[in-house]
Amino acid sequence: MNILIAGGAGYIGSALVPRLQDRGYSIRVADLLWFGNHLPAGTEVIHKDLFDIGTDDLKGVDQVIYLAGLSNDPMAEFSPSLNFVYNAASPAYLAYVAKLAGVRRFIYAGSCSVYGYTVNELYDEDAPAISKHPYGISKLQGEKAVIQMGGDGFSVICFRQGTVSGYSPRMRLDLIVNTMFKSAMQRQEIVINNPSIWRPVLSIDDACNAYVRAIEASEDISGIFNIASGNYTVGEVGDIVRNTLDGRLGMKVKLTIKHVQDYRNYKVSFERARNTLSINPRHDVEAIVDDLLAHQEKFADMDNPNYYNIKVFETLKAKLK
Ligand SMILES: NC(=O)c1ccc[n+]([C@@H]2O[C@H](COP(=O)([O-])OP(=O)(O)OC[C@H]3O[C@@H](n4cnc5c(N)ncnc54)[C@H](O)[C@@H]3O)[C@@H](O)[C@H]2O)c1
Repeated sequence: MNILIAGGAGYIGSALVPRLQDRGYSIRVADLLWFGNHLPAGTEVIHKDLFDIGTDDLKGVDQVIYLAGLSNDPMAEFSPSLNFVYNAASPAYLAYVAKLAGVRRFIYAGSCSVYGYTVNELYDEDAPAISKHPYGISKLQGEKAVIQMGGDGFSVICFRQGTVSGYSPRMRLDLIVNTMFKSAMQRQEIVINNPSIWRPVLSIDDACNAYVRAIEASEDISGIFNIASGNYTVGEVGDIVRNTLDGRLGMKVKLTIKHVQDYRNYKVSFERARNTLSINPRHDVEAIVDDLLAHQEKFADMDNPNYYNIKVFETLKAKLK
């Protein structure tokens, strides 16, 4: 099976591509390489903007996975206008061309950010999604655009992912567990901005498994699915990261608790993904910390600006206009 992965050179893609190649899939990546190319040698890469992808680029492609766009709130806040172009218009355009080219399934990397600030109830996919901030709004717009193109032999699966964490060859240290790991290792301190805020956390390993399940699901399945390894408060994540590092390395990590207002707070049900796609998360926060420890020499230069999306984006933005 031939799969085109848009944004496949990013954090999730760089872990997913080798997993899929291992499973025998033929992978073509379309990516602007904002963060470089950390894909296995020999991976086919179309180095261009998704708006320049045409049906020719999609010839023979069975499925498309969309992992592109601006992938966090700071990037979206830095340039709300580019955010709406890259996160809302770009998936709409790519799904349109993919369907035209005869692609049979489109898998979209959405976000639980669409839920915004909720009332501490467990949200399923039918609960209100009313983010008031550029990233969450645009991820919902991208999702709505691609889901409405489903039908006539074109299956659309949208994942609303929790915050992903763990090691990828294209590393990010601006994601909840990874950020805490970094500051614990560098400064023996974890700063918790608001311990009561709920966040679904998704290990990168569970994320990759979810994409495999979606690719291999029966063709008549479409829909929106929350994807997470577990729901945690930020305070609990801090405790687990600290306790795991203290236990494994004999450290004495200090927790600094603040009470800063956050605009995202949500916990989600992932029963639909379990029941429909057989997506069963297996990696909790402790397992994520162990994964980071196992690979720590691969990102020992923890202040490298490439690990922080906003730092790269600030320097890129002028070229993107
Ligand atoms: N990482 C997370 O915690 C998380 C959580 C929820 C949702 N998501 C979504 O998952 C997707 C992947 O996240 P990630 O962490 O791997 O992101 P990332 O920022 O590491 O990678 C994004 C990749 O897309 C490429 N790209 C962006 N716009 C492009 C365009 N117009 N044309 C071609 N290439 C383009 C970039 O060069 C980069 O390689 C994103 O859509 C993000 O919104 C991520």
